[in-house]
Amino acid sequence: MKISEVLISKEEIDAICERLGNQITKDYQGKEIVLICVLRGAIVFMADLMRKIKVPCEIDFMSVSSYTGTKSSGDVKIVKDLEDSIEGKHVIVVEDIIDSGLTLSHLLKLLKSRNPASLKICACFDKPDRRMADVHVDYIGKQIPDEFIVGYGLDYDGHYRNLPDICILTESD
Ligand code: IMP
Ligand code: MG
Repeated sequence: MKISEVLISKEEIDAICERLGNQITKDYQGKEIVLICVLRGAIVFMADLMRKIKVPCEIDFMSVSSYTGTKSSGDVKIVKDLEDSIEGKHVIVVEDIIDSGLTLSHLLKLLKSRNPASLKICACFDKPDRRMADVHVDYIGKQIPDEFIVGYGLDYDGHYRNLPDICILTESD
């Protein structure tokens, strides 16, 4: 496995966060929100996005597992649940990337059963060509082609999360 090229620069990512933060600020005027960071990949995006949001917000974290290597197992389990109740709250799930959408559709079902006042999704990146589950993503940073990417929180078997740009990982040496 090798890093072949920068697909999305940190400057472009910053502009994406600014745009999404402004949109969320506009849409939630007069409300308070809870941002749910889906660990671990979304931590970098969450940290940037929350500072662009100008309405009062709380944060919470959840960890689900579905991936080993580059392939989705289709099997999603809750590794770490939220600390607080989301009942009656305006919730936005913050995801790093939507690929098959299986993780998210499972997560949404679970969160809906906890009766939030509203539930939306904000994903930094989206690979629409790979979608298997029918999930509506309310806020999308950028649609990307079907490539395995790393950096900006995204990993390959635990590595590369600390790269500031989004890079393409290829199988060739
Ligand atoms: P899904 O269930 O197939 O939509 O997978 C979603 C999760 O898989 C994301 O939240 C990421 O953690 C991980 N993932 C999907 N595509 C990539 C990628 O290209 N690079 C790194 N992680 C990915
Ligand atoms: Mg993730």
